[in-house]
Amino acid sequence: EEQPILIQGPMPIEAEKFAGKLKNVKEETSGSFVFYKGTVDDYPVIVAKTGKGMENTAAATAVAIEKYDPIAIINQGTSGGHDPALNVFDIVLGERTVNLGSLKTGNMADEEGIEPTAWKPMDLMASEGSAGEDPNAEKIRYYDGDESLLAAADAVKDTYKKGKVVEGTIGSADVWNNEVDRIQWFHDKYGTSVEEMEGAAAAQIAGAYDVPFLGIRVLSNNKTNGGAYNPDTAAANQGYVYEVVKEYIREM
Ligand code: 5AD
Repeated sequence: EEQPILIQGPMPIEAEKFAGKLKNVKEETSGSFVFYKGTVDDYPVIVAKTGKGMENTAAATAVAIEKYDPIAIINQGTSGGHDPALNVFDIVLGERTVNLGSLKTGNMADEEGIEPTAWKPMDLMASEGSAGEDPNAEKIRYYDGDESLLAAADAVKDTYKKGKVVEGTIGSADVWNNEVDRIQWFHDKYGTSVEEMEGAAAAQIAGAYDVPFLGIRVLSNNKTNGGAYNPDTAAANQGYVYEVVKEYIREM
């Protein structure tokens, strides 16, 4: 049995376009997660519609790994720009993915207020002890994109005509940031290129099972340069990811 490639998309507009490209499709569900099992160039590929956010994505990733034993996972969809050099329709290959919601606040007493720019990154994977007390946990946890998946994505960069394709850092949390100074803070501290709500959850669970992982995110909006939201970016990204998958299959 060949191990399938798993392609994840959170929203219908981020999964169904790719699912429509599969041959011999069979639909299966597990909880709220929908899996379209089919083939690309006679190789098994499963598209997962995970739902939005970190929890849906983590659970959908674990379920898919246990049920289907994928050889590799690509988490893809839309995102918001953190880098003013990136425009709507540009695509970021996640050389790294990071959870932007893992934070520890400073120590502030009653009536001392709230100081978000003093919050520190917190690494829940640093040790088995309390992340709140362990000074070694005061650091950023990056999940590296898989080299072979990155190579396949790189090899078909030029097939994408709607924008540029760059390597970068994908930040995830169940938060939609519209404050440009806060976006800038993440860009400076974490090196984020874009933000979304799924990649780091999928990367963490893929890592727990040692499954090669890559995030691929198109900018659907960019607050830092006035890039207005465009939902058509979701389909464009799936078109590119389809080329990446075919290249990955060719290289196997
Ligand atoms: N901030 C957060 N999530 C975003 N998404 C697109 N743009 C942004 C943004 N600026 C994606 C998330 C989620 C849905 C709201 O769209 O990944 O699935």
